[in-house]
Amino acid sequence: MIEYENLFKANEPLMEEFRSEFDKFLHSGWFILGESTKSFESEFAKYHDLNHFVGSASGLDSLIFSLILSELPKGSEVIVPSNTYFATILAILRAGYVPILVEPDIHSYNIDPTKIEEVITDKTKALMIVHLYGNPCEMDSIMKIVEKRNLTLIEDCAQAHGASYKDKKVGTFGNYSAFSFYPTKNLGALGDGGGVGVRSKEEADTLRMIRNYGSAKKYEFDVIGYNSRLDEIQSCFLRVKLKYLDKINEIKRDHAERYFSGLKKTFICPQKQEGVSPVYHIFNIRHPERDRLREFLLNKGIKTEVHYPISPHRQKVFAGVLKGEYPICDEIHKTTLSLPISWYHSKEDIEFVIQTLNNF
Ligand SMILES: Cc1ncc(COP(=O)(O)O)c(C=O)c1O
Repeated sequence: MIEYENLFKANEPLMEEFRSEFDKFLHSGWFILGESTKSFESEFAKYHDLNHFVGSASGLDSLIFSLILSELPKGSEVIVPSNTYFATILAILRAGYVPILVEPDIHSYNIDPTKIEEVITDKTKALMIVHLYGNPCEMDSIMKIVEKRNLTLIEDCAQAHGASYKDKKVGTFGNYSAFSFYPTKNLGALGDGGGVGVRSKEEADTLRMIRNYGSAKKYEFDVIGYNSRLDEIQSCFLRVKLKYLDKINEIKRDHAERYFSGLKKTFICPQKQEGVSPVYHIFNIRHPERDRLREFLLNKGIKTEVHYPISPHRQKVFAGVLKGEYPICDEIHKTTLSLPISWYHSKEDIEFVIQTLNNF
């Protein structure tokens, strides 16, 4: 059986280092906001070319914190892709703003820049883009709109650790960039975690308060905050894993190239943009008979996933909140299938998936 993902196998090569860090962690007796979190924050900032990086408890909180830091006027509209993971849109609602959905490009699955200006009103204050599946958005066009319209730009980098657009890391274009360290991510912790990339020290200091009840000094509370800290234990594991992120991404790119060159043209592969370095958090194909294809693969011993089965605007919780039709998003949701692409998969695993698919 070729599993879609197996988190034991994906972490097995690092177990010894994890054990040694865990031992040090236990002996330190310091479990919240200690030296490991501080070190991880600066190491991750350096790796991702971010001015500052502040850890939080999750990717969702990091998106909400980015919006809080943006200090948008009440009732502001925030543009977001219709084709994203549910959390991106939830964050806008949680922060008290109005999500305005824009359709994706059918080839890249990311927000279609040519459709952004159509929805801009005088209430539009921010654009929240998502580098979906680890594939950077088309940043040249997006930055032109951001500058022309004076929008705050937030990048949802939850699926794109290490990806770059024309030699510039994702997360360095926007005012804020939100990351998730959910265990399946390319840089995944052994539990929940996240964080925000910010441009100035002042904003980093504010965020350090916000994530900690609004406190910079013990028992003194200056702003209305949250309890959303990146756990010290997760920082220990993330420091280990960060050293392997380039290798993880390289192996995933290698698997993706194998899919690109081996798969029959009947399977629609994601578009490859010139000068862009994706990290293939997910490698999806599209096929009109997706469900039958998925069943066929399962019967041959290959597990796949669907990212995602239901369009955000069709989720029960958003009924009456997200209005409008998003046929491109629906088409992607109906036809997409994610193939195994973990860094523990062997070349032979990927070749077997390709051969099996080509026999469908
Ligand atoms: C695109 C995207 N945004 C946000 C999130 C939320 O991250 P988390 O699960 O850490 O809250 C995720 C991941 O789960 C995601 O894939």
